[in-house]
Amino acid sequence: KVEGLALTPPMGWNSWNHYGCNIDEALIRQTADALVSSGLRDAGYVYVTLDDCWHGTRDEQGNIRPDPDRFPSGMAALGDYIHARGLKFGIYSDAGSMTCAGRPGSQGYEFQDARTWASWGVDYVKYDWCNTGEGADRRNPREAYATISRALAASGRPMVLSICEWGDNQPWLWGRASGHLWRTTGDITNCWDCVIGHGNWQSRGILPILDQQEAIRAHSGPDGWNDPDMMEVGNLPTLAENRSHFALWAMLSAPLILGTDVPAMRPEIAAILTNPRLLAIDQDADGIAAFRWIRTPEVEVWAKPLADGDWALAVLNRSGQPQAFAIDWSQQLQDGTNQRDGQLASTTWAIEDSWTGRAAGTTAQPLDLRLEPRDTAVFRLRQR
Ligand code: DGJ
Repeated sequence: KVEGLALTPPMGWNSWNHYGCNIDEALIRQTADALVSSGLRDAGYVYVTLDDCWHGTRDEQGNIRPDPDRFPSGMAALGDYIHARGLKFGIYSDAGSMTCAGRPGSQGYEFQDARTWASWGVDYVKYDWCNTGEGADRRNPREAYATISRALAASGRPMVLSICEWGDNQPWLWGRASGHLWRTTGDITNCWDCVIGHGNWQSRGILPILDQQEAIRAHSGPDGWNDPDMMEVGNLPTLAENRSHFALWAMLSAPLILGTDVPAMRPEIAAILTNPRLLAIDQDADGIAAFRWIRTPEVEVWAKPLADGDWALAVLNRSGQPQAFAIDWSQQLQDGTNQRDGQLASTTWAIEDSWTGRAAGTTAQPLDLRLEPRDTAVFRLRQR
């Protein structure tokens, strides 16, 4: 792969979670404009990615073309529009014969498609896993993603590769060789704790996805990230749920890919997504995913060591009721994978509320919290 393209988790927007197949060039342009005017671009959300359904047919030489009705100006022009606004251009394809929505896949066309995307100015490729064969004929995922990775490298244009294999073949064990991020689960959906079955496919809410991340956290890091899926921030019903979802993804050092309607985004949602202290936790140079430090049925505390020796803590109320919760600081911060352990008891740390930036005392006293239903408090512990 082209190394070094994702030393911190990629940030941007993708069309799928909110729009599905209903995309066209006007929507992409409006979204690019709104990323700029809302301040999201300046906060770091730079990739503008067209997911499934941008495609038309291949021409007689096999070159892929966009849907002529939805993208009449062509993809190079759309790439220019995106780049002119200081953003980067992302596109979607699939390792099989067809995409999940039945558009042409890249199997057998990998090098040709990579050259085409490079000629359009593409900077980021999300590569899906539908229609890759059944049973013994199923493609080998390592091989399939290695092939597209070689094709992207051979195109001469640096492109981030987002592996979208959904976690079934443990991509955290092999994805780093080919790609810069890999999905760890089936599709996210905009609910807190549901799991929705679609035959042998499941889509999952925020907590079910969160619960799958801890066991694989040690595989994530600079230039190779676990991807718990694009965000539903802005699509969840309450502000507390939107806050929690964002805080948890930041604690995991997850890629931060917006999946909402950016032109219609409410200011409260933009404020969550551009919070500089939360973004600094996500984008921390060491990229160590948080571990579950304290766990009760209702409340969990996740802990993440940061590059400068500070710690980030997220106190999650999983329940639908308000919860009182106190942290007494007597437990050591031990993550179990020997990435980095914290010495809490031997030093007094200053506590900063990451949502507001306000000082919140020190670890010399217990921290007494009252958490709204499904809300998450976030703190940064600073060595004094
Ligand atoms: C399955 C992926 O997991 C989704 O994120 C999305 O890309 C759809 N396919 C598109 O068909």
